[in-house]
Amino acid sequence: MMRKHDDVVKGIEGFVEENLYLLKEVPEGWQPSDILPDMVAEGWREEIQQMRNQARGVPDEVLIVLIGNTVTEEALPSYQTMVNRHPGVGDDTGASDNPWARWTRGWTAEENRHGEILSRYLYLSGRVDMRAFEITTQHLICNGFDPKTGNDPYKGLIYTSFQERATKISHGNTARLANENGDPTLGKICALVTGDESRHEEAYKRFVGKIFEEDPSGAVLAFAQMMKNTVTMPARRMADGQATDLYGQFAVVAQRIGVYTIRDYAEIIDHLIDYWKIAGLSGLTGDAAKAQDYLGGLAQRYRGLADRAEESLLKQSKTPFRWIFNRSV
Ligand SMILES: [Fe+2]
Ligand SMILES: [Fe+2]
Repeated sequence: MMRKHDDVVKGIEGFVEENLYLLKEVPEGWQPSDILPDMVAEGWREEIQQMRNQARGVPDEVLIVLIGNTVTEEALPSYQTMVNRHPGVGDDTGASDNPWARWTRGWTAEENRHGEILSRYLYLSGRVDMRAFEITTQHLICNGFDPKTGNDPYKGLIYTSFQERATKISHGNTARLANENGDPTLGKICALVTGDESRHEEAYKRFVGKIFEEDPSGAVLAFAQMMKNTVTMPARRMADGQATDLYGQFAVVAQRIGVYTIRDYAEIIDHLIDYWKIAGLSGLTGDAAKAQDYLGGLAQRYRGLADRAEESLLKQSKTPFRWIFNRSV
């Protein structure tokens, strides 16, 4: 018997409530002003100067990935809208006391600090064409983003599990590169964001894990279908009014410097398959057992793809980015 997905997610509200502690209480969390120059302090000029000096060492290619990641974070309205579109998970009134609604608002409120701190860094660094960056963000929110979940709440939560891990990897690698290139402030900023993404990943994975307990066949089918669609990146539709495939260009740079690669994509698949114990699921329907088989060989296929893609990507010529005054990366 097929179970209705919205009923299942409504049925695990108590579990969601128990895991709301994965969001930090507001007074305990970090804020952008903890890290960025204090404009009220006596030495504000020196603080800004020091930040700019450090930012000079950040290579253009790292900067490009950082700008793309910031644009992605800044399109947060699209992500909150996405979650609320999924039946059983949505916030019915906008201030609902339902655990799912409280989760989504708390998650959004934490995420909001990401775009905030990163864009202030970009502004203060003195390295970025801010207008080009801002145009890109506005275009991305206008253009929207379709995560290809068909508003199925299982797929929506699988998508967010995947995506939070992807952003954790991406910001984590950027933190490392910032530190290696002499910008510990940027390293700290990206590390803070990484920490949030990590808690969010854990929460979404637990929610989906609970769905796997309740409805293993439905969940494994949803997982396999999401993977067949391939995971659409949230900033896929960004545009700067100049480049014909801005996202594609950005993704090539991220691959080239190892911030987010096809190999990472394969690792995420592997990790989720492991975390949700896909191989050990039993008593599945015929279709679901096929989906289980399909998932079993998937990461390996992506690794094969990665070998070939890496070769061809490394041969690609550099392209100009409006974000950094049309210097080529
Ligand atoms: Fe984020
Ligand atoms: Fe996130």
